[in-house]
Amino acid sequence: MSPLDPLSSALADLDTLEATGLDAFGQARDAGSVEAARIEFLGLKQGRVKAAQDRLKSLEPVAKRAYGQRFNAVKQALEAACDAAKVQAARPAVVSSEAIDVTLPGHRPRLGHRHPLSQTADELIDLFGRFGFVVARGPEVEDVHHNFEALNIPPTHPARDPLDNFYISDRAMLRSQTSPVQIRVMERQPPPVRVIAIGRVYRPDTVDATHSFMFHQVEGLMVDRGVTMADLKTVLRLFAESYLGRDVQIRFRPSFFPFTEPSVEVDMLWHGGDRWVEMGGAGMVDPNVFRAVGYDPDEVTGFAFGLGIERLCMRRHAIDDIRLLYQNDTRFLGQF
Ligand code: DAH
Repeated sequence: MSPLDPLSSALADLDTLEATGLDAFGQARDAGSVEAARIEFLGLKQGRVKAAQDRLKSLEPVAKRAYGQRFNAVKQALEAACDAAKVQAARPAVVSSEAIDVTLPGHRPRLGHRHPLSQTADELIDLFGRFGFVVARGPEVEDVHHNFEALNIPPTHPARDPLDNFYISDRAMLRSQTSPVQIRVMERQPPPVRVIAIGRVYRPDTVDATHSFMFHQVEGLMVDRGVTMADLKTVLRLFAESYLGRDVQIRFRPSFFPFTEPSVEVDMLWHGGDRWVEMGGAGMVDPNVFRAVGYDPDEVTGFAFGLGIERLCMRRHAIDDIRLLYQNDTRFLGQF
């Protein structure tokens, strides 16, 4: 093979110079290596571009023109590559290494929701609302008159034992039941009455799977002419079927409460179906309670009930330990 003529070989060398130069600037990641490449290729005294320029002198006049044009193009390309490499190297490292992929899904904020006990309370208000019951409220720090005396619970009654209650003073306590709200409502308004009261109650019970020193009750009171035990049983049965499902089984057992006569305890068949669990107490309002609030027991009759909200919620959702409801573990709460 004959050697190339001087112009052809000079042009071939320009091609090589361009390719290696573009590659060197393309590879340079930081300011130091960009500068090294700049000196190697674009250095004014020893650079390879300068050497290529000097070669111009050795060419014939006709070849000079062709070589000169190509040389200018190569020089401009390498200068541009050098500028681009400087800009790239000046960017913060994170930006180049952690480029943002806009096609990835974003971070979804995790939404909270109402606590299962609050959900239960909302449903109770809704369901009893359909039976015409409106919501009443009373204080959590209650006086002994409303918590006991007006409810016909005498001073000697074991329910008043200091060991079974959170007394704040001789006459004040954290309410042990929502029944005092019955008294507060009847003191305020004449019959007829149809209210529920939902709220916290406090008892120094030892905490276990079904007991807590604080829990919630829903209290119901209906007073009118001719209210009977049949009304009580109907309302509670309809309520249980609405909240716990048609197939729920409940039973009424004769019992005793000072503020009702007769009194019953209401049980529900627990999930699993192997045991009955008390859902609350109920009965026909005792005439002494009516007298304490100035109602005439010969004119009106009434029923009352007090149910444990935690247990209703537990039966509905098959929760086995009441403590789960107070721990605020989002893995638990997220299921409801
Ligand atoms: N207050 C009772 C308790 O805490 C429950 C109760 C029983 C409420 C009978 C009532 C009732 O309204 O009539 O155990």
